[in-house]
Amino acid sequence: MKKIVITRNINPDIVDKLRKDFEVSVWEEDQKPMPREKFLEETRDAHAVLTMLSDKVDEEFLSNAPELKVVANLAVGFDNIDLDAARRHEVVITNTPDVLTETTAELAFTLMLVSARKVLAANNELMEGNWSGWSPYHMAGTDVFGKTVGIFGMGSIGAAFARRLAGFRSNILYHNRSESEAANDLGAKLVSFDELLSQSDFVLCAAPLTEETKHKFDAEAFGKMKDTAHFINIGRGAHVVEDDLAEAVSSGVIAGAALDVFENEPIGADHQFVGLDNMTLLPHIGSASVATRNNMMNLCVNNIMEVLNGGRPITPVG
Ligand code: DGY
Repeated sequence: MKKIVITRNINPDIVDKLRKDFEVSVWEEDQKPMPREKFLEETRDAHAVLTMLSDKVDEEFLSNAPELKVVANLAVGFDNIDLDAARRHEVVITNTPDVLTETTAELAFTLMLVSARKVLAANNELMEGNWSGWSPYHMAGTDVFGKTVGIFGMGSIGAAFARRLAGFRSNILYHNRSESEAANDLGAKLVSFDELLSQSDFVLCAAPLTEETKHKFDAEAFGKMKDTAHFINIGRGAHVVEDDLAEAVSSGVIAGAALDVFENEPIGADHQFVGLDNMTLLPHIGSASVATRNNMMNLCVNNIMEVLNGGRPITPVG
């Protein structure tokens, strides 16, 4: 019987679809990633692996698993995977595009509104018993309505975010490797990275992490933004030079930042961002609605079944 390894405790009803025809091994932890040693040991004789972002799919892993046919990554991003090595080993890689687009765009929009209107600071003040009364500029933030919003990375999540901006009568700018028809149809304008930074009131990073986009948001980039602007990141933490962002927010180079992703996750209370005013921090929950996570799991499982049964992967990468 072919063996499938699943590196986290995912929905058992979805896993059950595999049990009839395959031997399935599940790492029964919700939060704790499978330790590397265990990962290598467990996958040595595997034909398929359902991985998380925290699992490194690299040369060491691939050469250790000679039977491997497919890795289904439970994410749209695949920066944890060495695609060249996978190609060399003839292992199919799949991801979970489309099914998480709207949910992730919704969270990006939430971050923008929360940052603009100081929602977390206001909530904390009240919860901590520090609300002393109404005053004209108390917790006064900035409007989103009618502002210029710049989107770095106009893939399907960027486009879904842009669609939501229509109701806010926003002026939409975007920076992307190529022109996007979906964005153009929404009246968005393709601009240079510098124009995006200098003209936007809100800058959203929704790009995939590549050598080209890594550490793109550094001191120089933040220095080009308006001092009233907010930076939102739902891409990957490594798009940002974190020391530079901490400095930009604490010294008022930009007005605020709202982040769902960090370079080394998870971050703890000792991270330099924690406690900074005008920082909204979330623990990487972009696609985390129950329905979407179930859809992502189903897509991974269906990709695995297709490949192991000799069919074509539904959402291959590369
Ligand atoms: C993705 O899909 O890449 C997300 O970051 C994981 O939820």
